[in-house]
Amino acid sequence: MPFVERVFSGVQPTGNLHLGNYLGAIVNFVKMQETHNCIYCVVDMHAITQGVDVWGGPAELTRNTREVTAAFIAAGIDPKKHIVFNQSQVSGHAELAWIFNCVARMGWLGRMTQFKEKAGKDRENASVGLFDYPVLMAADILVYRATHVPVGEDQKQHLELSRDIAQKFNNDFGDSIRAQGNNDGLFFPLPEPLITGPATRVMSLRDGTKKMSKSDASDNSRINLTDDADTIAQKIRKAKTDPEPLPTEEKGLEARPEADNLVGIFAALSGRSKAEVLREFGGGQFSSFKNALAELCVTKLAPIAGEMKRLVADPGHIDAILIDGSDRARAIADETMKLSKDIVGFIRRR
Ligand code: TRP
Repeated sequence: MPFVERVFSGVQPTGNLHLGNYLGAIVNFVKMQETHNCIYCVVDMHAITQGVDVWGGPAELTRNTREVTAAFIAAGIDPKKHIVFNQSQVSGHAELAWIFNCVARMGWLGRMTQFKEKAGKDRENASVGLFDYPVLMAADILVYRATHVPVGEDQKQHLELSRDIAQKFNNDFGDSIRAQGNNDGLFFPLPEPLITGPATRVMSLRDGTKKMSKSDASDNSRINLTDDADTIAQKIRKAKTDPEPLPTEEKGLEARPEADNLVGIFAALSGRSKAEVLREFGGGQFSSFKNALAELCVTKLAPIAGEMKRLVADPGHIDAILIDGSDRARAIADETMKLSKDIVGFIRRR
């Protein structure tokens, strides 16, 4: 049975959404709406996997969940045609994660670079949830039997793990899946990452070798989605560059991480390739390029910031969107859970 193509992706409500989240993920979420049924999830359960001092406590979590929802909508996601909801409202995510916990292997999770980075040196002190994070992520995707997952470059390894889990589940329970009448024995699809566009990895404005990050001490290193026009323009003008003029060809960006990053941002925001951008600005000084980039950033981002501000001012409206989205998500997830329980052999009310 071929799987119906369906898109799922998630963003953590951990505060300070920035240009990296926008270009690396959200822009693709918006685009996928034209061709697929899409489910976009604010993953509040993932958000609590680090210490409460990191995620900021209950009031912060609630605020950030609404803010990510507002960003989705302000960026152009249509919550009526597609589904926008927060993870914790659909219990199927946690339930399927438990089954997957018993499919995934310690060794697989031990290799996850994001865990190693986030846990740091003191691994004994990391939460079990942080270690298990990629299993919950696999459950997020597969409880909808989603086939395509737009994500940033850094999530590629987690997607591979989702495929491994789907495949091992299909193998371990192959007979049971076939007994259900599913003759090819494939219950879960192997979800594919969609990593496209010229700026899937947006780097810090202060250091082109580091990823743009919400946790960088310098606010000038990133453009927050909530920054106003003046702040955006100022940060672009202050962005680190090198003394050379811009190259005329893409090859000339090699070993020039800051130039490469700014050209990539320009390309992504204008829907052009880096080569095209360099055809226009190559050979020129950074100052004029930066003026054009600042203007472009403001044109594209300031309206989103404005719309987000308007939306978060009405939390009742945002919560209603999340509740409606969860109801529609739950209908799909519940169906997968029924079938999964039958496949595993759990007794349930019929
Ligand atoms: N781990 C993702 C990130 O930090 C967020 C996420 C959670 C996600 N569940 C997901 C992304 C499922 C895609 C699909 O970016």
